[in-house]
Amino acid sequence: MGKLNGKCAIVTGGGSGIGRACVLRLAQEGARVMVGDIRTELAEETAKMVRASGGVASFVHCDVASEADVEAMTDKTIKELGGPDILVAAAGTSTRGGIHELSLADWEHVVRVNLTGQFLCARAALRHMINHGGGNIITIGSISSVVIGAGGSAASYKASKGGVLQLTRAIAVEYAHKGVRANCVCPGAVATNLGKHSREESVKWTSVLKDDARAYKFDVPIARRADPMEIANVVAFLASDESSFMTGSAVMADGGYTAI
Ligand SMILES: NC(=O)c1ccc[n+]([C@@H]2O[C@H](COP(=O)([O-])OP(=O)(O)OC[C@H]3O[C@@H](n4cnc5c(N)ncnc54)[C@H](O)[C@@H]3O)[C@@H](O)[C@H]2O)c1
Repeated sequence: MGKLNGKCAIVTGGGSGIGRACVLRLAQEGARVMVGDIRTELAEETAKMVRASGGVASFVHCDVASEADVEAMTDKTIKELGGPDILVAAAGTSTRGGIHELSLADWEHVVRVNLTGQFLCARAALRHMINHGGGNIITIGSISSVVIGAGGSAASYKASKGGVLQLTRAIAVEYAHKGVRANCVCPGAVATNLGKHSREESVKWTSVLKDDARAYKFDVPIARRADPMEIANVVAFLASDESSFMTGSAVMADGGYTAI
């Protein structure tokens, strides 16, 4: 018996990295999973991986920045898989550059995907969950939800991830009485394609970057990047009844980075 037998989950950003690992891990625990991603071919590949190992998964093109896409993804999940009981909001993006060089368009894009996208997904899921006995929302924040660090990605990323933690806490407090729990997993550096995918999108960036990003000394007591599955294991725990007294938590999965 898996920990999530009979449950249905939506995972945004499920085509790659942390999102894909979450899809595979939740399916391994018995959940039926809808894989939502802007990169449809990667979402399809993830769903196929689940089916190849005997699980149940479907996929959908979904830009979490689009209200219509998010509503359509949630409706499809309800119709095809009978859920969602669980939402893992992992879709995310980033830009680079100091605040003085950052264009308004680039700022708004990152905040729209990383923060507004999580609001849209949570809102759509909550509307189903509160009428179906509750649910479980896991947002993917970052160490940037709680600390700034030295250099690295743009302030839009850090501000959006700070917002993700507060959004998660608001959900936890507002909906505990409806049987909904919400927790924010805050990873440190994870070996994924986030940098590659963000660079692919950089053709659309309008910021003119002249100053080099400040050197980034990334001291981590566990001196390596995480494998995405190490984050997915935390998500699977939070999605299950094993974490039944946890809500509104910032769960650091950062190799000790924020302990320094
Ligand atoms: N990799 C890290 O070091 C790290 C650290 C902390 C937090 N995170 C967070 O983890 C989450 C997953 O990132 P990852 O590292 O796995 O990167 P990734 O690029 O491997 O995966 C992100 C996925 O999100 C999808 N995506 C991007 N924009 C989208 C949109 N508008 N709508 C739907 N899907 C979209 C991408 O297509 C991709 O499949 C992000 O929220 C990221 O901020 C990553």
